[in-house]
Amino acid sequence: MNSETQNEQTSNKPPFYITTPIYYVNDYPHIGHAYTTIAADVLARYKRLKGYNAFFLTGTDEHGQKIQKAAEAKNISPNDLTDEVVERFKHVWDRLGITNDDFIRTTEDRHLRQLNKLFKALYDKGDIYLGEYEGWYCTPCESFWTESQLIEANCPECSRPPERLKEESYFFRLSKYQDFMLEYFEKNPKFVQPESRRNELLNRIKSGLEDISVSRAAVQWGATVPMNDKHTIYVWVDALFNYITALGYDEEGRFQTFWPANIHFIGKEILWFHGVIWPTLLKALDIELPLQVYSHGWWTIEGKKMSKSLGNAIDPIAITDEYGVDQFRYFLLREVPFGLDGNFSYTALKNRTNNELGNDLGNLLYRTLSMTEKYFEGIVPESDEGSGNENLLAENAPLINARMDEHMNNCQFSLALEAAWEYIRMANKYVEDSKPWKLAKDPDRRGELAAIMYNLAESLRIIAIFTTPVMPESSEKMFRQLGFSDDDVEARSNTKWGILKAGTKFKKEKPLFPRIED
Ligand code: MSP
Repeated sequence: MNSETQNEQTSNKPPFYITTPIYYVNDYPHIGHAYTTIAADVLARYKRLKGYNAFFLTGTDEHGQKIQKAAEAKNISPNDLTDEVVERFKHVWDRLGITNDDFIRTTEDRHLRQLNKLFKALYDKGDIYLGEYEGWYCTPCESFWTESQLIEANCPECSRPPERLKEESYFFRLSKYQDFMLEYFEKNPKFVQPESRRNELLNRIKSGLEDISVSRAAVQWGATVPMNDKHTIYVWVDALFNYITALGYDEEGRFQTFWPANIHFIGKEILWFHGVIWPTLLKALDIELPLQVYSHGWWTIEGKKMSKSLGNAIDPIAITDEYGVDQFRYFLLREVPFGLDGNFSYTALKNRTNNELGNDLGNLLYRTLSMTEKYFEGIVPESDEGSGNENLLAENAPLINARMDEHMNNCQFSLALEAAWEYIRMANKYVEDSKPWKLAKDPDRRGELAAIMYNLAESLRIIAIFTTPVMPESSEKMFRQLGFSDDDVEARSNTKWGILKAGTKFKKEKPLFPRIED
C-alpha cells in the first residue's frame, strides 16, 4: 500500500480518485483481476507523477450466494474463506507493485455501518419498497434475469444455467430514473467509455428501466436489510457502495476531498451495474455521480476463454516469477488497446520482452553506460556543443511527452507506450547514425563525442520518466544506474531537456531485461 498520501487531507494538490472493482473472494486472483488493477495503478502513478493527489482504492467483495456456496463446497465458514483469499489478493497486489491507498472489504464494520444507513435512507425516501421477485438468478454472476433475457435457458452473461427464484424481495425504483439517466448520458458524453459500450448501454436505457430486486431472502451470508432481518442486501448494492464507504461518506475528510470519483475502472461484463445501477442509487441519495466509468475488454488465453474447467487461468505470481513483474505489466498494457478484448499468449509475452524491453530499451541503456565508461570513465561529460538543444532527441522529448500525456489521460496506455518507444527507437537510431565508437578514435572530436554521450544519457533519464508508471522497478533501476538518488525528485519527474548535470557518476549494473530463452 502506498504511504505517500498519508497527508491527503491537507494536501493542496488537485485530488484524483481512481477505483478498481472490488473482487469476489470465492477464488484466487488471476490475470483478469491483475489487468484492471495494473491499469488503475498505472493511472494512479501517472497522476501522482504529474502532481495530483491521487487516491487509489481497491478491495474485495465478500458477501452473497457465490461466496456462501464456495465456502460450503470447501466445508469451511464464509469468514474463514474470505480471510484466507483476501490475504492472497493482498499478496498478489504487493508482488505486482500496486500502490493502492486503501483496501476495502465489504465485511468490515466501517462498510457495513454506512451501508446500513444508505439502504435505510433509500427506503425512507420511498425508493425502496417490499414486493415479490419471480424470475431467474445466476449465482456466478450474482445477477437477476428475466425469462426473455436468458439465451437458450442459460445466463446471457456466462452461459451457465440459472436458478428459478420466487421470493419476497425489496425493490429499488430504478424505473423512476430513466429520464434522469438519459439526460445524464446526453449531457456527459464521456461518462461511459469506450464510446461503443456507451452507445450499447444508452440503447439499453432507452429500451426501458424496470425496478430491480435489491434483497435476498434465501441468502444468509450478507449485510442484513435494516428494516427486516429476514433479508440480506443484494450483493451488488452492497458492493457498489464500497466506493463511498471506503472514503468515509458519513464523516468529515476523505469523502469531501475525493468524491466524486474521477474514474471507475471495470471490466465490460459489469458495465450495467456501474453505468446504470450505481449512478441511479447515488442520484436517489442526492450524491454526486462519478465522472467516468471506463470498461475494458476481456482476455482470452491462447485463443480460449479462461475457465475453471479448462484450468487455463493465469496466476499472476507464477507468471511474474518466470517473466518479471515489469515485463508482465508492460505486456498487458502494450499488447491490447485499452477497451478492446485481447489474447494472451506466451510467445507474444516473450517476444515483447526480448525485443521491445531487452533489445530496444535495455540495450540502449547498457550501450550508453558502457560507452560512457569507456570514453569518459563513467562520468557524464560536459557537453561543449552548446546545450544540446538543437539535437533531435532534445527537440522530440517535449513532443513525445505531450502525446504521452494525451494518451494517458484518455487511458490509451498502449498508445502512450508506443509513443515512448518511438522515442527509444529514435535514441537507438541516434547511436547508429552518430557512431560514437568512430569519433572516439579521433582526439579532435572529443567535444562532439561528449555531446553525443550527454544527449543519450539525458534522453535515457527522460525515457525512465516515461516508463515509470508502467514499469516502476525498471525505471528505478534506470535512475539508479544514471546516478540519481531517491532525493533527485526533479530529475525523476521533469521531462524538460537539460536537467542531467555534467559530472554525474553512472553506476552500471546487469542488463535490465534478461533475455527469455525458449
Ligand atoms: N465483485 C464484482 C465487482 C463489484 S464492483 C462494485 C466482480 N468481481 S470479480 O471478481 O468477478 O471481478 C471482476 C473483474 O475482474 C472484471 O470487472 C474485470 O475487471 C476482471 N476480469 C475477470 N476476468 C477477466 C478476463 N478474462 N479478462 C479481463 N478482465 C477480467 O465482478
